[in-house]
Amino acid sequence: MKVSDLRGILQYVPRFREKIFVVALDGEIAASLNLGNLLLDLAVLRSLSIRVVLVHGCGAQLIQLAQEKGIAISNADGTGITDEATLKLGVEASHAVLQELMQGLSSVDLRAAYANVIVAHPAGILNGVDTLFTGKVERVDTATLQCFLNEGIIPVIQPLGFDGEGHTFRVNSDSVALEVAEAMRALKIIYLSPKGTLRLGEEIVRQLSVGETEEVLRKRRASMDPSMVSKLEHAARACRRGIARVHLLDGTENEALLSEIFSHEGIGTMVYSNEYQQMRRALKKDLRAIMNLIRESIANAELVKRSRADMMAALDDYWLLEIDRNLAGCVAVHFYPEEQTAELACLYVAKSHEGQGFGRKLMAFAEQLAAKKGAKWLFALSTQTYNFFQQKGGFVEVSPEELPQERRRKWESSGRNSKIMRKVPLQNTAATSPSLPL
Ligand SMILES: CC(C)(COP(=O)(O)OP(=O)(O)OC[C@H]1O[C@@H](n2cnc3c(N)ncnc32)[C@H](O)[C@@H]1OP(=O)(O)O)[C@@H](O)C(=O)NCCC(=O)NCCS
Repeated sequence: MKVSDLRGILQYVPRFREKIFVVALDGEIAASLNLGNLLLDLAVLRSLSIRVVLVHGCGAQLIQLAQEKGIAISNADGTGITDEATLKLGVEASHAVLQELMQGLSSVDLRAAYANVIVAHPAGILNGVDTLFTGKVERVDTATLQCFLNEGIIPVIQPLGFDGEGHTFRVNSDSVALEVAEAMRALKIIYLSPKGTLRLGEEIVRQLSVGETEEVLRKRRASMDPSMVSKLEHAARACRRGIARVHLLDGTENEALLSEIFSHEGIGTMVYSNEYQQMRRALKKDLRAIMNLIRESIANAELVKRSRADMMAALDDYWLLEIDRNLAGCVAVHFYPEEQTAELACLYVAKSHEGQGFGRKLMAFAEQLAAKKGAKWLFALSTQTYNFFQQKGGFVEVSPEELPQERRRKWESSGRNSKIMRKVPLQNTAATSPSLPL
């Protein structure tokens, strides 16, 4: 880890302080060699005052126990039928995982306690089949959880529930995590499972909105691993019920947890409810961040070089696109009041956010801003992106004579030989552009 990584983490600290993260480990992850690293990562989260609730599964341990004892089980993941023998083994498997976790948490100096907080009732008769001892979460004892969290103790929750009449039920750990997160108003759920990130074809899917997640499930459910289907279903449900983010991670990967939480790009698959997006005017304190953002594009000669002083002089013209309070793009609109025109400049979208429509949104935003300020047309100078302006923005190429005089002189002296793209007439783009915070 580099020192600069620590600086990067700092920006998240105020947002995450005292917030609840529900971390859900599949049984296989609890048995994996990476468990020690994950528990250390939890210690990092705790040191940043993040409140962690740990939920675990026990499917892998249940299957192994059944094999060792030669007992046939009716279901391993707490979703189908749980007969009496399976429940008995499930309880044994779950206790073994709990013990393993407690031991590991103590070894990284984390205070933890088993939290008996799941009130369950029978899942009942589904499609004519009695699921017997499979349970459904009826209620989460939030008061008890809150007591643990207030004392700095990590509550550890098993995939078992009790009904208050002396019955035990096997419950699916994905749904326990969801119910706990909803009841506790958690900021995130983090599901850690083997091969836990979503791949479509060769590609790892980094981000999915809740709508896209439901679409993937509709179209590809049959060809997907059942564990991934369960994670996606619970992630979508969680987002619909107000959890902002659900992360699906490969829990066997070292540093997966921290890399996902503390980097903008992430390492797993994030399902999100609604992105927090805003356009805001740049301030002096943003200059360094803007220059860092566009540095590579200047090096590639896509954007023209700007000094800090240049930008400072026209600071009011610069607008920033923020996603989750991170800088994701920028655009500048320079006005030429005498000619009743405006220039769209410094259009940039961070690599991590390309191809999601933000470039078009920024273009539309600039157009709307220019129109509001009375510009009759808008132009942009481009050496490599003129196709984008043309094909995605409806700009057309015009000759340099069309430029305002002052701008034309600069164009000539720059030697860049940029194409001049112009958009006329300005349309009312209010419906497609991000709202103007004016
Ligand atoms: C150009 C840029 C702003 C596009 O941002 P974006 O958020 O990816 O754009 P959108 O998601 O709205 O649009 C993506 C579409 O534009 C196309 N596109 C992207 N760059 C393009 C280019 N240089 N020429 C033509 N089309 C381009 C993509 O292929 C994609 O097409 P599709 O929707 O048909 O698949 C971004 O790539 C960027 O910042 N580039 C570097 C800086 C730059 O060149 N700025 C312009 C200076 S004049």
